Amino acid sequence: LQRLDRKKELVKKPLTSVPPRYVHPDQDPPIISLDSSSPQVPIIDMQRLLSEDFMDSELQKLDQACREWGFFQLINHEVSSSLVEKLKLETEKFFKLPMEEKSKYGQLEGDVVHVEGYGNVFVGSEDTKLHWRDSLYFTISPPHLRNLHLFPNLPPSFRETMEAYSADLKNIMVEILRQIRKKLRMDETEMTILLEGKQAMGFNYYPPCPQPEHAIGLPPHSDFGGITFLLDVNDVQGLQIKKDGLWIPVKSLPNAFIINVGDTLEILTNGTYRSIEHRATVNSLKERMSIATFCNPKMNGEIAPAPSLVTPRNSSNVQKNRSCRLYQRTI
Ligand code: SIN
Ligand code: FE2
Repeated sequence: LQRLDRKKELVKKPLTSVPPRYVHPDQDPPIISLDSSSPQVPIIDMQRLLSEDFMDSELQKLDQACREWGFFQLINHEVSSSLVEKLKLETEKFFKLPMEEKSKYGQLEGDVVHVEGYGNVFVGSEDTKLHWRDSLYFTISPPHLRNLHLFPNLPPSFRETMEAYSADLKNIMVEILRQIRKKLRMDETEMTILLEGKQAMGFNYYPPCPQPEHAIGLPPHSDFGGITFLLDVNDVQGLQIKKDGLWIPVKSLPNAFIINVGDTLEILTNGTYRSIEHRATVNSLKERMSIATFCNPKMNGEIAPAPSLVTPRNSSNVQKNRSCRLYQRTI
């Protein structure tokens, strides 16, 4: 197993190449560069979604986005920008803590690797390739599922800020799932598995990398849960999504969340909405930070197509996503 302090050592030394365990040789380059001519992820305006006059047309856009892209950017979402800024600052502060401090929240306990905590996540064996990323991951709600060895010990201002932020995001998540249920004419209880699900947060830190084309912050994967909210912390681009076979960079708009459909929602909607592969690339100049908030299904809930969306004609719609089995961390 990797030692928790290994990445720090890497970052401290002036590296000129990527150490072998971090080399991911066969990456497809992005086919489309990030300029105004490249296709852009659809933008959904939360205020319009909630207004009498624009609700129908905005919901139509949201529906299209989830069918065709599996991704959209949410603007005018009403999470206060001061709260978002505070969370960004607290996140930067956390990753700047000395390694001894961060290791207190480490995933390693003796030889046991926990899913929750701080580290490089899921290192199966000595041969497992490592990602150019450190992360802090944990369940935030419902509160009784929080890891009591981890959560209460986080720096208090960090903890309070993420509690306020995650509560606001939960309200948005409920509203979006309610709208989706309405649009797809699903029965009242068919979203319960997500509405009563687990909320988790992942804080990502991607250090600058001397050979970004040989390393990856997060390899291609799809998210396991219902929907994911991604917040770019320090305005450095890195997310790419696979659209029609091409990797497309996504640059977040100011004050926006990048939201994507996960495998659970794909299955629940009987394949109508798509859980799209995405990856986090790194660059040689700047560190990058992002915060993902996951809406995972209820514990022990059965993940299956909503019966109201299954007809004899479409009963074999759901294609289980390719990479969720390869990279499945968020349960
Ligand atoms: C994720 O897929 O969980 C994070 C992607 C990113 O940091 O851009
Ligand atoms: Fe993801």
